Amino acid sequence: MALRLGDTVPDFTQDSQLGPIHLYDFAADSWVVLFSHPADYTPVCTTELGEVSRLRPEWEKRNVKTIALSVDSAESHKGWIGDINETQNTTVDYPILADADKKVSDLYGMIHPNALNNLTVRSVFIIDPNKKLRLQITYPASTGRNFDEILRVIDSLQLTEYHSVATPVNWKDGDDVVVVPSISTEDARAKFPKGVTEIRPYLRITPQPNR
Ligand code: BEZ
Repeated sequence: MALRLGDTVPDFTQDSQLGPIHLYDFAADSWVVLFSHPADYTPVCTTELGEVSRLRPEWEKRNVKTIALSVDSAESHKGWIGDINETQNTTVDYPILADADKKVSDLYGMIHPNALNNLTVRSVFIIDPNKKLRLQITYPASTGRNFDEILRVIDSLQLTEYHSVATPVNWKDGDDVVVVPSISTEDARAKFPKGVTEIRPYLRITPQPNR
């Protein structure tokens, strides 16, 4: 059955260019971004994997580990990483799962045969430290993902997790946020000393608490 938000994600051990990766051990207490791409030595994937590598300080700031996946071999990944490093001006140091037997692709539903026969599409899974699935998105092979958007979602998820606020339409880091419905306005005023503006009883705005 397809994975749904809030599900505990399935654990696995799979080979990578860095050796076997056991998901739960690798993740430990971190958030994880697990993302698949169609194939090694392809142009869009080359730019994506380079960008994820260049964003390393942003992942670290948020306690996030990244794992890529395609159905190519670890040897193929090693050769391709040389190209990524050279052309994208970076050093890829995160694991790229070598899912040649499609164990993880099948477990996570990353192969959409009517879109791309026998190869993984561009899936993204954000997994929290309790191993719960918090976001899942799927892009077609021809569209490179926007990893700034993935970081923005992680910021939003972490604001909800650690500060009990949600983020409104088109929110960017530093913008005002909204108080979650489960908190009364009275409790919100005590919890958010920067102030709470009640536009409607169900629509309460407060400055971003961790800024
Ligand atoms: C790419 O990564 O460039 C790509 C892969 C499969 C289909 C189309 C583009």
